[in-house]
Amino acid sequence: MRKNIVAGNWKMNNGLSQTQALISDIKKQTQISDAEVMIAPSFTNLWHAFEALRQDNIEVVAQNMHFAENGAYTGEVSAGMLQSIGVKTVILGHSERRAYYNETDESLAKKVDAALANHMRIIFCFGEELADRKAGNEESVVESQIKNALFHLGADAFKNIVLAYEPVWAIGTGETASPDQAQDMHAFIRKTLANKYGKEVADNVSILYGGSVKPNNAKEIFGKPDVDGGLIGGASLKAEDFYAIVNAF
Ligand code: 13P
Repeated sequence: MRKNIVAGNWKMNNGLSQTQALISDIKKQTQISDAEVMIAPSFTNLWHAFEALRQDNIEVVAQNMHFAENGAYTGEVSAGMLQSIGVKTVILGHSERRAYYNETDESLAKKVDAALANHMRIIFCFGEELADRKAGNEESVVESQIKNALFHLGADAFKNIVLAYEPVWAIGTGETASPDQAQDMHAFIRKTLANKYGKEVADNVSILYGGSVKPNNAKEIFGKPDVDGGLIGGASLKAEDFYAIVNAF
């Protein structure tokens, strides 16, 4: 059975003292939902967050990693480095990395392989831009992003992959995909997976929605049958809002 997941992507926010404060606020929240909860602080705060949440049911995940094991890649962090501090899940393919750091389906396929080779779980992000949706191409864009980066994998790999549909036009804009738009795309994604790997694999993959999820819209979005949770940006920076979203399940 697929899991419900709510993951907070902190992006490039919070130094050490803000991280300490936010984690302390998070620890004060009460979880009544069955969702798995994750937070993704910046690299510099991963170790602190991991230590601070060691006893809690909140997983600390990375926002990115390099595909190489080690070597002359100044400024980069490898899967092995993340594993060495206990981080077992990594976000890959976020649209901000695709847009600002030229990440392509091809380079992402290499990162996916490296993460899986290091026994890590992946939250794999993709989503169309506004122009794609206006042109009615959202499904073909999403399909090619998934196929190009993931369809070289065997079915077993999907036990360690969570998908995150994040329409670029809904990220940080306050504009959310309607619950029906999210459901339609998630159903399409599951059908695309089923066509390649069979229904059982497709039914067991969690598909998260990301893009301006807030306490006031989470319940309706998460209520859709193919939406298994959310990847939360802005609203994950306030513990109360984040937990209002976690408890929307
Ligand atoms: P916002 O929730 O701020 O729109 O960000 C979504 C996102 O990019 C999560 O990865």
